[in-house]
Amino acid sequence: MPKANCSISTDVSHAAEILRAGGLVAFGTETVYGLGANALDEHAVARIFDAKNRPHFDPLIVHIADLRWLDRLAEQLTPAAKTLADAFWPGPLTMVLPKKDIVPDLVTSGLPSVAIRMPSHPLALELLQKVDLPIAAPSANPFGQISPTTAQHVLDNLGDRIDLILDGGPCGVGVESTVVLMTEDRPRILRHGGITQEQLESVIGQVDVYLGGDVAPSSVGSSESSSEHRQTGVAAPGMLSQHYSPTTPLVLASDLDSESIAHKRVGLLQFSATSAATRRAGEVVSVEVLTVDGNLTVAAASFFAALRRLDAEGLDLIIAEPFPDHGLGRALNDRLTRACHR
Ligand code: TXA
Ligand code: MG
Repeated sequence: MPKANCSISTDVSHAAEILRAGGLVAFGTETVYGLGANALDEHAVARIFDAKNRPHFDPLIVHIADLRWLDRLAEQLTPAAKTLADAFWPGPLTMVLPKKDIVPDLVTSGLPSVAIRMPSHPLALELLQKVDLPIAAPSANPFGQISPTTAQHVLDNLGDRIDLILDGGPCGVGVESTVVLMTEDRPRILRHGGITQEQLESVIGQVDVYLGGDVAPSSVGSSESSSEHRQTGVAAPGMLSQHYSPTTPLVLASDLDSESIAHKRVGLLQFSATSAATRRAGEVVSVEVLTVDGNLTVAAASFFAALRRLDAEGLDLIIAEPFPDHGLGRALNDRLTRACHR
């Protein structure tokens, strides 16, 4: 018999107790909902991988509210890392730093580095302060699927696999944190996200971008490939080319050829009300318009929820309009490209 759904609550003390006892609590952050467990408890962390069906080669982000934990989890920060922490924490920035032994290998998939972030959502901060432990938390969706931006999304996807959902309301930013590798000479973006490349460069100068960490599941299970990560240290091992995917096939409007939509029930994901790019679709049965005026911050906040609504309509195809390739548009285009079925 399937397990009953967990409850949705705003009781931070109860959520902290569950985490301290080794349980799983999904909680709202400013980016997306996270699926949290005590990062120092390997059994609790193992439950995250099971609940999400997440492959063990994909390391987790550790969330903290207090800089004391940063000292315990990571080696001393470089000046650039200090500058980024001062400028963007709390907030949607994750830094990959050399790890200390206290961090279990399961959290980092055996890498010598750990990804750390201090979220800015008040309820998430209150939870982290109350529990006074570092909390490992990937996005609270089954592996490869659309990220959750409301408590209801989490309940729909993982409700029978976790202990509690702490309801922080709809996520304000709407895309995941920016992941920046800080273990090499020059900072390197591994995943575009809520803090834009322009924002990073305004405080630390030029950063590199390396999003190509597409490590296929078949090739990463072996010990050779994990030592390869260790040597190069460049990839975000979770950046698979297909991710964030609806069950409905999705194509970019720019990749569309007109025959492929004949006789299909099509849904449109439009960036703005005025865009022309997606109008040539045939039988359009559903349209989601993300903004009236092309504001990327507004588009990001509603992106995943709109994609979910289209996915629930039983369409043959979702056609999505690419975003302008700057600011948050880079993070959104990254999610769209990976959401495409191949
Ligand atoms: O906004 C967010 O970051 C959300 C909320 C819940 O905080 N979390 C999130 O976690 O998006 P997740 O697990 O869905 O994505 C974590 C990303 C993956 O691409 C993973 O490969 C990368 O961070 N990552 C984690 N540890 C890493 C490490 N040591 N080196 C390189 N990449 C790492
Ligand atoms: Mg994720």
